[in-house]
Amino acid sequence: MKIITTKNYEELSKKAANIIAAQILIKPECVLGLATGSSPIGTYDRLIKYYEDGDLDFSTISSVNLDEYRGLGPDDDQSYNYFMNEHLFSKVNINKERTFLPNGLEKDADKACNDYNNTIEHIGGIDLQLLGLGHNGHIGFNEPDESFPISVHCVDLTPSTIEANTRFFENEDMVPKQAYTMGIGNILNAKKILVVVSGKDKAEILNTVINGPVTPLVPASILQLHKDVTFVIDEDAASKLEK
Ligand code: F6R
Repeated sequence: MKIITTKNYEELSKKAANIIAAQILIKPECVLGLATGSSPIGTYDRLIKYYEDGDLDFSTISSVNLDEYRGLGPDDDQSYNYFMNEHLFSKVNINKERTFLPNGLEKDADKACNDYNNTIEHIGGIDLQLLGLGHNGHIGFNEPDESFPISVHCVDLTPSTIEANTRFFENEDMVPKQAYTMGIGNILNAKKILVVVSGKDKAEILNTVINGPVTPLVPASILQLHKDVTFVIDEDAASKLEK
């Protein structure tokens, strides 16, 4: 596991974007695993800048996102599909036909999950998976549990995740209570994993993830077992790291 500590969020975003840009340059037809949330926004902004400056070409890559709220479609401004269009896809020359998210509008949960597992498999697996870290140690929407879910599944979001996501909605009642998410197995199958973590509020959980025991009660702790993981974190997030 590699840990890169940066001064602040801006520098973190630059470092993370450079790692993604390097992946695209080395393998222009690569598959990127992408995340939503606040953490990667600066990274996406930086990638957009590289594209605008003529330094990065997205035309041959494919992408698969970690998760999507169950019940929300691409036109809903709270859906992750909408988020990705807003923060990346509509601003670069990515082929929209090659961008994939779970189908939030598919009511049949088994079908939604099977279809998305097949999508990830048919696309040839993920070269680089970008992750944020939840306050309870979740990655994707893999919440603390008694075991590690392997493949794409439908989850009930925990009260703490619903509360954390309320900031994006008018009120807590409007936050969807379920999501389709890649499983831990899908994430661990990625050849490389890049985790971006920023802020004092993530310092404690980050220390637990990196230095604590590997346990499904802290889903991200499983990343300790992956052979190519890079954490790009800022000084605030690093402030409680024991080693
Ligand atoms: C997003 C996702 C989540 C977030 C996590 C951190 O697609 O799967 O696991 O990465 O909740 O969110 P932020 O970055 O908003 O703190």
